Amino acid sequence: MALKVQLSSGDAISSDADVLAVCATEGPLEKQSVIAALDEVFGGELLEHARNADFRGKKDQVLDVPTFGRIPAKRLVLLGVGAKRGVNAGSLRVVSAVAARAASTSSSLALALPDKATGGAFREIGEGIVFGAYRFTKYFTGDRRPKKELGTVSLYKGRGKPTVAERRALDLGAAVAEAISAARDAVNEPPNQLTPAELANRCKQVARRGRMKITVLDKRGIEKAGMKLHYAVGQGSVNEPRFIHMVYKPKRAKSRIAFVGKGLTFDSGGLCIKPAPGMGEMKSDMGGSAAVLGLMGAVAASKPNVEVHGIIAAAENMPDAAAYRPGDVFGSLDGKSVEIINTDAEGRLVLADALAFARKQKPDVIVDAATLTGACVVALGKTCSAFYTGDASLAKQFDRAASDAGESFWRMPLLEELREQLKSDIADLKHTGDRWGGSISAALFLREFVGDVPWIHCDIAGPALSDRARGVVPKGGTGHAALTFLKLVESV
Ligand code: BES
Ligand code: MN
Ligand code: ZN
Repeated sequence: MALKVQLSSGDAISSDADVLAVCATEGPLEKQSVIAALDEVFGGELLEHARNADFRGKKDQVLDVPTFGRIPAKRLVLLGVGAKRGVNAGSLRVVSAVAARAASTSSSLALALPDKATGGAFREIGEGIVFGAYRFTKYFTGDRRPKKELGTVSLYKGRGKPTVAERRALDLGAAVAEAISAARDAVNEPPNQLTPAELANRCKQVARRGRMKITVLDKRGIEKAGMKLHYAVGQGSVNEPRFIHMVYKPKRAKSRIAFVGKGLTFDSGGLCIKPAPGMGEMKSDMGGSAAVLGLMGAVAASKPNVEVHGIIAAAENMPDAAAYRPGDVFGSLDGKSVEIINTDAEGRLVLADALAFARKQKPDVIVDAATLTGACVVALGKTCSAFYTGDASLAKQFDRAASDAGESFWRMPLLEELREQLKSDIADLKHTGDRWGGSISAALFLREFVGDVPWIHCDIAGPALSDRARGVVPKGGTGHAALTFLKLVESV
């Protein structure tokens, strides 16, 4: 059931929602209208409690207050948003998510926004609420099944009646986050369920709802198309590979962007098998393709005037009698031959063919997303993704999009001196270099397949999966990169 998000007029205090969340800025709490009014109802005890608990409206501070029947809500939550002048669309997105998460096991939430600080941020607020309410509970039974889920969120803005523009922005934000929730679902889904074929089914659903064209190639189709590297990676699994191409095409598009996602529904490492600890996390190795799936749904909701291609190379990397091996040499869609060094470096292989395919669509820009290297996680940690591009102005545009989306990305260098690691004695390219600079040499390998199309590569190996809930991000699959990609499309 989709969450209902509405703008209410009137005062939040008398809302009969289960949970009343009130944003507080730093500084005198008694000067903030909703808090002052609440304190009066509580006979001065609210501010005293806040003082005792050292709640001062600082960023990330949360104070849970029982209401003892003095207001209709059963729980009151005060949420610090920090200094008033620091409140912006990004921080409102986060605080909305925190409020929704705090209420995610209740049926209804009333959220009082900070006084006069809402500006044009209703889209971000809509995003935050739906992001924060996200849970993945489909496999729970009996007692573990959620008894309640958040059904309605009513927003109260400081002053004045809600406008039509604000309502629209709120709805759009909620729709965008709803679309990106499908990306989170796909990452969370266990790999015995989310096979390449099932990933393709979910793409078909998104395409149908968004009235977009979609083409799916099965194993035979991939072979016939000449995607020899993608085929090689998928050949060791009974869950056969799929190649997916979605197109959002508005009437008079100003430009064309192709997004390419790595869709390894499970990465065991293949014959170069991974160690057991943490192998289960490799169900998230389709995080890049999840971002593309989420983006396409979001694009269908926001309808930018840009042609957007969503391209996904889906496969499962397994050890098997039919699996590809180190030492094998394959051709590729692009034509270059590749010597296989380590079957665990499968992502760059499926991407190489998908990038070559993307190039044939004659896009103005290609952007790819992949959970590509452990080295990237070592470099930037679990919350920040790397991006690579040789184009300085594109880098600037991308940085801006990431910051608008509230996602963490850091530009890394395409170091030419590492290129020689990819020289093979018997083929055009080796597909891995040495350990040091592993995220960079992976990017250099991909670059061989984009020709001269402006290109951005995102290594999202860290943030695709989160080990804890934080701001808009839930524990588990995050959908990371989808919102940045949407902002990038909208910034063209
Ligand atoms: N999917 C992994 C990368 C990964 C590692 C993602 C940890 C998320 C968390 C990728 O296919 C891989 O195995 N890469 C190897 C490359 C190496 C063999 C050159 C790696 O990073 O170890
Ligand atoms: Mn691998
Ligand atoms: Zn992988």
